[in-house]
Amino acid sequence: MRAGDSWFTARAGRVRRTIAGLVARTNRLLDAVPGTRSLYERQLFRSLSWTHLDLEVDDQHAGLDGLRFAFLSDLHAGSYLSGAGLERLFALVAELKPDAVLLGGDLVHTRPAEFRLYDRAIERVAPSLGVFAVPGNHERFPGIGLERFHAWALGHGIRVLRNEGTRIGRGRASLWLCGVDDLGEGDPDLGAALAGRNPGEPTLLLSHHPDLFHAAAEHDVRWTLAGHTHGGQVAPFGWMPVRHSKLGFDRGRHRSGGSELYVGRGLGAAIIPLRVHARPEIVVARVGIRRPSDG
Ligand SMILES: [Fe+2]
Repeated sequence: MRAGDSWFTARAGRVRRTIAGLVARTNRLLDAVPGTRSLYERQLFRSLSWTHLDLEVDDQHAGLDGLRFAFLSDLHAGSYLSGAGLERLFALVAELKPDAVLLGGDLVHTRPAEFRLYDRAIERVAPSLGVFAVPGNHERFPGIGLERFHAWALGHGIRVLRNEGTRIGRGRASLWLCGVDDLGEGDPDLGAALAGRNPGEPTLLLSHHPDLFHAAAEHDVRWTLAGHTHGGQVAPFGWMPVRHSKLGFDRGRHRSGGSELYVGRGLGAAIIPLRVHARPEIVVARVGIRRPSDG
């Protein structure tokens, strides 16, 4: 099933490309204003929040108990986040000792050179299962391109889950960790991401765009982690002048049948170096065993 061919298609058109170009030019102008990075980074570290999610599995998957994932998205490096800021952020993640680090896209903002800002930061984390990433829309910005994203990931030993998955095994238990391309600008293929999954295998999907959730739920994806929305970024008292989800998946937890979506608010900022009532967020997802009384 190619999610991009279904009813929620949002493939890049000329208008979207023009908007992307304008965003890039505006941000490059604002980037040149002295002090914007330090201003944003001060806000980021002052208001950084950690959200803990329980990924419940049945007894038969008990071998997965305690597995922990750190999910970071929308860092928009270079826009208002420097290499030193990224290093500090990844050092905080390393302290948590996650088994895997999951990167949910929009790692860079408008320039390919922004990938280099991660050089020292990525060295800070060495999770036993590795670092995994999916592309966001900014990885496809004019002048960046997916080939640069893939080359950067390869250079750091990061596994890109772009319409593919991998099995994480522990003893006789296993989990299918997979990812899709960006729904807004890319070509997500959920079928390809799930190919190779065993029947009944708990599945964790990474999707930059949250609006893929219903399709994921229809395909028995147990958990989906997404970003893209920045939780509104500027959302005074929950009012969001800019909304990136057409389905109301602006932030936080959503359910559909037995499937769960968590939309992280991300860490960086786009256009302006400011967040209002949309605190930057690192999501820590931990696998636990569902007790019979949990229902
Ligand atoms: Fe973003």
